[in-house]
Parts: sequence; structure tokens; C-alpha cells
Amino acid sequence: MSAAPTPTSSSLEPLIEFRGISKTYGQGQAAFLALSGIHLGIRQGEFLAIMGPSGSGKSTAMNILGCLDAPSEGEFLFQGVHVERLGRNQRALLRRHYLGFVFQGFNLLARTSAQENVELPLLYRGESALKRHTAAREALARVGLSGWERHTPAELSGGQQQRVAIARAIVTQPLVLLADEPTGNLDSHRSHEIMELLVQLNREQGITVLMVTHEPDMASYASRIVHFVDGEIASDTEQEVRTCS
Ligand SMILES: Nc1ncnc2c1ncn2[C@@H]1O[C@H](COP(=O)(O)OP(=O)(O)O)[C@@H](O)[C@H]1O
Ligand SMILES: [Mg+2]
Repeated sequence: MSAAPTPTSSSLEPLIEFRGISKTYGQGQAAFLALSGIHLGIRQGEFLAIMGPSGSGKSTAMNILGCLDAPSEGEFLFQGVHVERLGRNQRALLRRHYLGFVFQGFNLLARTSAQENVELPLLYRGESALKRHTAAREALARVGLSGWERHTPAELSGGQQQRVAIARAIVTQPLVLLADEPTGNLDSHRSHEIMELLVQLNREQGITVLMVTHEPDMASYASRIVHFVDGEIASDTEQEVRTCS
């Protein structure tokens, strides 16, 4: 397997589609149905907030959307490609080429500069040192961290660390940014700054953003809110896009 599966594009099709997606953890008596026949279509350029109580299946859905885990049942299409039919390695290629990830805990390498953290995905791709340096500097500039390249995570605030993580997620120019509670470890002020950055990336670069949050304040930045309850979609609402300060 030398190349990523090539998605075919059609503006009529959603970018991402769940058709009857179910996920069961465990087997037999211990089996637990975490997602139950989910149908969900996501268009390119949407900013989707996934909400719902703890244990409702949000992270399970994100793991499938992020090609990190496979569904137990149903079809998962990414630009028309049946991801549920791909093997582990092909899923990894799809992930590396089209998706960027941001986590609640930032997940940066501790004794490594911001610059090197952001270069990492390009290193995995085998890009040249020059290309890595240039792209990482650009990505750090886009998240407002020009001049902070040599700082390690310990020398940065939580908000700045999350910006580095976002720079690392966008340095490969992904189509989709997946963020599981990206503001969960930040105070309110930093949280709003991170949300405004995500909105900016969504609007200016056209990156589709899929974000899990349980804070209505953060979800208010999204163009659409999907509520999960007990592994099912309880509501799916488009909303007016909030204007950033
Ligand atoms: N790897 C796993 N093995 C067994 N059960 C799991 C696993 N991951 C999640 N679950 C269960 O599936 C349900 C949904 O989990 P999750 O998707 O993490 O919910 P949320 O992110 O909405 O809090 C929970 O009841 C959780 O305990
Ligand atoms: Mg979760």
C-alpha cells in the first residue's frame, strides 16, 4: 500500500456520511452498544459541535470519524470512499492525509520545542527538513505564535499549548479538523480565544471542524449542533454563525 485511497469529489455528496453506524464494545454478556444506528451527513466547510452527556457515545463517534476505530455495523463514507471496508493501514493513510486532531490534553512532546512539535506530522510523511521548517513556521504564524517557535510546552500557557497543538493539526493542510473537548483544560478566556481561532480556520481556510464539547458557550461558535443521547442522535440543529470579536 503506497498511496492513500483517492477520494472522488462531488459537491452533491456530503464530505462525510454515517449510514446506520453502530459500535459495540466487548462481547457476549459484557457487550455494550455505544452507538446505535447513527445516520449523519457532514458537508465540507461545516463547523459541527457534538454535545451530549458523558457516556453518550461522542468520543466513540469521533474515533470512527477520525478513522482511529472501525464501526461494528453500518457504512462510513469519506468523500465517497467506504472507510469501513479499508484495512488498518489504509485508514491510517486516510487519517494522515486528510485529518487533523486536537485533544483536550494538548498531547505535545514535553521537552520538544513548539517548532519541532508542529514538524512531527511532516516528519512522519517523510518531508524534507526545509519543507518541514517552512510549513511549521507558517502554521505557528497562523495560530498567532510567531516568535514562540523555540519554546517548549512548559514555557507556554495552556492556551498557547493548545495553539501549538492546533498548528500541528493543520500543518498537513487537512480537510477536516477533529477536536475532542479542545477547551476542556482551559479557562473561559482562553477557551473563547481557541474557539475564535477554530472559527477563523473554518472560515478562512475552509477546514471542516468537528468538535466535541459539553459547554453550550463553546458550541455556540458552531454552525450546527448534534446532540447524542445513549448512542443515538437526539437532535441535529443548524444555527446562525456567531460573529467573533
Ligand atoms: N474501549 C471501550 N471498551 C468498552 N466500553 C467502552 C470503550 N470506550 C467507550 N466505552 C463505553 O461506551 C460508552 C460511550 O463512551 P464514549 O464514546 O467515550 O462517551 P462520551 O465521549 O460521550 O463520554 C460509555 O458507556 C463507555 O463506558
Ligand atoms: Mg468523550
